[in-house]
Amino acid sequence: MSNSQEKTKERRSFLTKLSFTLGGFAAAAAAVPVVAALLNPLIVKKPKVWRRVGSADDFQTGDFKLVKYENADPKPWAGSTDRSAAWVRKDGDDQFTVFSVNCTHLGCPVRWKASAKLFFCPCHGGVYRENGSVAAGPPPESLHQYPVRVKNGQVEIETSAIPVTTVGV
Ligand code: FES
Repeated sequence: MSNSQEKTKERRSFLTKLSFTLGGFAAAAAAVPVVAALLNPLIVKKPKVWRRVGSADDFQTGDFKLVKYENADPKPWAGSTDRSAAWVRKDGDDQFTVFSVNCTHLGCPVRWKASAKLFFCPCHGGVYRENGSVAAGPPPESLHQYPVRVKNGQVEIETSAIPVTTVGV
């Protein structure tokens, strides 16, 4: 093998190693955000906060009332999106049922229609029964139900991140 051929072979070998090394770095750099996104739900603990939604006397037994409250994890830049809402029904003296206002399909706010005893989603026709279960349409699961308590005459709900699924999208 001539000297020139040997130098060409060395150069090819060097360039091959260099391209594998740079390819490895590029693959590692691309994998970091993917791995971080996959691990995010495990690492970031979603806050749960008790929010007051009104006096227990403000609610009429047997009917749902829309209440508004500050999100569990308010951000200074969020503006009015920092506010959320829930449907609260008084079942007895200190007994309440609370559902998230957000449809489990794509998150649109559902409306309670007392005469039909159903929740209707205006976006894609989702319908829920008064116990929150799905009656019709694309929602993949029941309305999210919040834990609720009465403290010093005030109704409080344990809020968390808006529970929207992407199942069936
Ligand atoms: S967002 Fe409610 S049915 Fe689609």
